[in-house]
Amino acid sequence: MEQRREEAEARVAAYGQEHLLRFYDELSGDSRRQLLDQVLQLDLERIRSIWEQASVKKEEDAFAAAGISPIPAYAWDELSDREKQRYTEAGWRLLREGKAGAIVVAGGQGSRLGYDGPKGTYDIGLPSCKSFFQLQAERLINLTERAGQAIPWYIMTSPANHDETVRFFEQANYFGLRSADCFFFTQGVMPALDAEGKILLAAKDQISLVPSGNGDCFAALRRSGALVDMKRRGLTWLYYYNVDNALVKVADPLFLGMAASHSHPAAAKAAEKSGPEEQVGVLCMKSGRPAVVEYTVIPETMKHATDRQGKLLYGLGNLSMQAFRLDFIEKFAEAELPYAMAHKRISFIDPTGRLVIPEQPNAFKFERFIFDFFSLADNITVLKVKREEEFAPVKNKEGEDSPETARRLVFDLHRKWLLAAGVPAELIGDRPIEISPLDSYSGEGLTDDVVRKLLQQ
Ligand code: UTP
Repeated sequence: MEQRREEAEARVAAYGQEHLLRFYDELSGDSRRQLLDQVLQLDLERIRSIWEQASVKKEEDAFAAAGISPIPAYAWDELSDREKQRYTEAGWRLLREGKAGAIVVAGGQGSRLGYDGPKGTYDIGLPSCKSFFQLQAERLINLTERAGQAIPWYIMTSPANHDETVRFFEQANYFGLRSADCFFFTQGVMPALDAEGKILLAAKDQISLVPSGNGDCFAALRRSGALVDMKRRGLTWLYYYNVDNALVKVADPLFLGMAASHSHPAAAKAAEKSGPEEQVGVLCMKSGRPAVVEYTVIPETMKHATDRQGKLLYGLGNLSMQAFRLDFIEKFAEAELPYAMAHKRISFIDPTGRLVIPEQPNAFKFERFIFDFFSLADNITVLKVKREEEFAPVKNKEGEDSPETARRLVFDLHRKWLLAAGVPAELIGDRPIEISPLDSYSGEGLTDDVVRKLLQQ
């Protein structure tokens, strides 16, 4: 062990990370071994280089804004009936033939929400008390029954929340899905750093290793064998989405059909920005390639630029709902995408050995973003949808994008569905309406029986 200690000491000293062994002498034998294992596994040269690049990238991004131009998009509402029918049929064909799957990225830390468990297990306070995972599973069950074919579901976890996620599914009997159609796989981690680039300790014998962003999912699909599983099943398209959207149309047939009817290897849903200042990434072209550009990077003039009809030129807000062709995922699974630095709240051990649980962002983590894969495609298909029909994100405990706003969006949409199904407003009254995804995926199937049961509740 002494030899490994010396080796570890030499390595951390070469990169200014000596503090990682600060508590070594106080540790028991097992803890010492664990810490040495972790330190010796770190690729400190790579971490330093990513830290330096990520710092430079922020500045480069600002300059790169000069190469931005708008990206064309379809608006579902503006399509002809024939086009809508064509795309819808193409999507259902994919589902019926077992060629489409869904992937949810659920490895994030949910630090803004401040919820301890995996975010997919969170209950936003709907009358049914359903978690995100249950809502999503039931949407898949709805489509599966109508397509007569299972839709495999790939669930990305992190090392920190994997076991709890799997247990949650097991205890709920997979919400009615077949366990064979739920594939859990774990994403990678990277060390968390303080503002000086020093790696944080999560415990005296443990380096702080945090999930390295949703952009790790293609590599994780490959590492875990999920890609092989997809090929064995004959999948050609994957519907990708964030775990924390209460209205997500998992495996949306219309969107998949539209994606598959174009020659581009990827597609993205977008919603009209509520105004120039809305803090959302924007879909556009960057240096001739499709991209999502963070709102912080777009210069003021571009943010406010409008077309002849007065519409924002850069008004396509990214909704994190995408579709990828399997051959594209396979080809670029190992692509060296850039890392961005995200400023987050991460607990750490201070020099006195005390655990600090910060209230404000205190540390940096390296993240790869899924949308950075867009630039590897010549072009992507962009579909503009109505935000209120499919986007109810939960990011914060309170205020904007919180459980409360998401609940409200669910109730409003489901009330709209009832009204569209011909139920008189007086009958609905002002009660909160929640329609089970088992009864309706997007407003269809509201028979007299379903409505009667719903209004009796
Ligand atoms: P967010 O960017 O909202 O991050 O993730 P987060 O970790 O969930 O929450 P905060 O920022 O700490 O509050 C968007 C989606 O990407 C997933 C999340 O689970 C969410 O579905 N994600 C994020 C991962 O799967 N892995 C990651 O490393 C980061």
